[in-house]
Amino acid sequence: MDNQYRNSFHIEPVKGLMNDPNGLAQFKGKYYFFYQWNRFATNHTYKAWGLFTSEDLVHWQDQGAALLPDQADDKDGVYSGSAVAANDKLYLFYTGNSRIQGKRQSHQKMAWSTDGQTFIKQDMAVCTPTGLTENHRDPKVWQHAGKWWMVTGAQTETDGGAVALFESTDLKRWRYQGILYAGSDLDQMCECPDVFSLSPEADILTVCPQKRTAASGTDTAISSFAGYLVGKIDYQQKKFIVKQELAKLDLGFDFYAPQTFVDDHGRRIMTAWMSRMTAAEEQACPTIAAGYVHCLTMPRELKWQHQQLYQQPLVDYQQLREARQTYIAKSGHLENDSPAYEVIVKFKAIPETFSLALNGGANRINFDKGQLAISRINWASGKQEIKKIPLTSLDKLQIFNDHSTMEIFINDGQSVFSMRTFNDGCKHDGNYQGLPSAGKLTFYHY
Ligand code: FRU
Repeated sequence: MDNQYRNSFHIEPVKGLMNDPNGLAQFKGKYYFFYQWNRFATNHTYKAWGLFTSEDLVHWQDQGAALLPDQADDKDGVYSGSAVAANDKLYLFYTGNSRIQGKRQSHQKMAWSTDGQTFIKQDMAVCTPTGLTENHRDPKVWQHAGKWWMVTGAQTETDGGAVALFESTDLKRWRYQGILYAGSDLDQMCECPDVFSLSPEADILTVCPQKRTAASGTDTAISSFAGYLVGKIDYQQKKFIVKQELAKLDLGFDFYAPQTFVDDHGRRIMTAWMSRMTAAEEQACPTIAAGYVHCLTMPRELKWQHQQLYQQPLVDYQQLREARQTYIAKSGHLENDSPAYEVIVKFKAIPETFSLALNGGANRINFDKGQLAISRINWASGKQEIKKIPLTSLDKLQIFNDHSTMEIFINDGQSVFSMRTFNDGCKHDGNYQGLPSAGKLTFYHY
């Protein structure tokens, strides 16, 4: 291990900068997770697709670079996109970014592979439709009723975010079908859209609305977030009919550009870039000294239950559990010195107040007066930061701590908080208080 912050069960690059997950797929049994990768530096000046593969979604093999910016129309970046497995091939769809005299041009492109190792780029003429600007990217492809469909993140000429829809029968020729969804909730640009069905009554559209500052014209990372709408894809009208308005997907500090895919078990699995850092926080990130920055969230399974979206940790991660300790007293001390662990608290009765301090007190979870608060110490400012949500009922907490990441699942995935947390030389023991009778806290050492 090159530094104390390198995670053991999160995907992160050996060097350089990682951002969005791309091309998530299961192909010939194996899991493929591509990602946006600057393999040369810990900044955003260069974008290729890197690749990790896995047999079990828990242990990953780094396969290096898969798609490089080596053509005229992707020379300034092989930007984000998706994958589908069909006809014995793995097809990748991405955005070729090129700048001509400083002006952005976006080309939706395709590459395919039969062995999952060599990817051949093939022309796929998808021009930016009239009425949209060259901020047009991040194709997500899926199959429905014998046809292929693609959504892209877009911006209208009147400076509004939009999700554009295309249709194809052969994955090569695409016809523009209009705007699937646009609204003021998409701000000035929509990045990385995804659309899928979770049940006959719930289709989901995930989006990353993006604001640009008038002053600089540059993206303000921090004002952008990943959200979802619940509704119905109307394939006749080519519209997403909204039933439930835009809400945040993750309530923590670090979560952006999520993407989903369906695996061979039929599970809808989502992973995201585990960052929403400002440029200054990114450069202050302690892993930069070891030559890399950022990671992906753990993959999670999406479900529609009790008229709500649930995000649940994959059962596959249970194989990491080694020693286990169980606590039933009202309060207690969690003896632990390993930076990779899992905590499950089952309450039985809703507690009046409950508090859990982890990583020697650097991270705190407090439930009090119908509110849940989660904290970390910001590595750039040295100050404590808190995220709070109103919460009336608390049945279960499940927390995954890797060396510098924490993911907290509330009530079996009703809400999730994801965050990076760099706790310099901290201890990994903890304390809890307020466990109601018949409640149980289980600590798993990984
Ligand atoms: C989102 C994003 C995408 C783009 C990629 C470039 O984080 O800006 O819209 O394709 O990153 O790396």
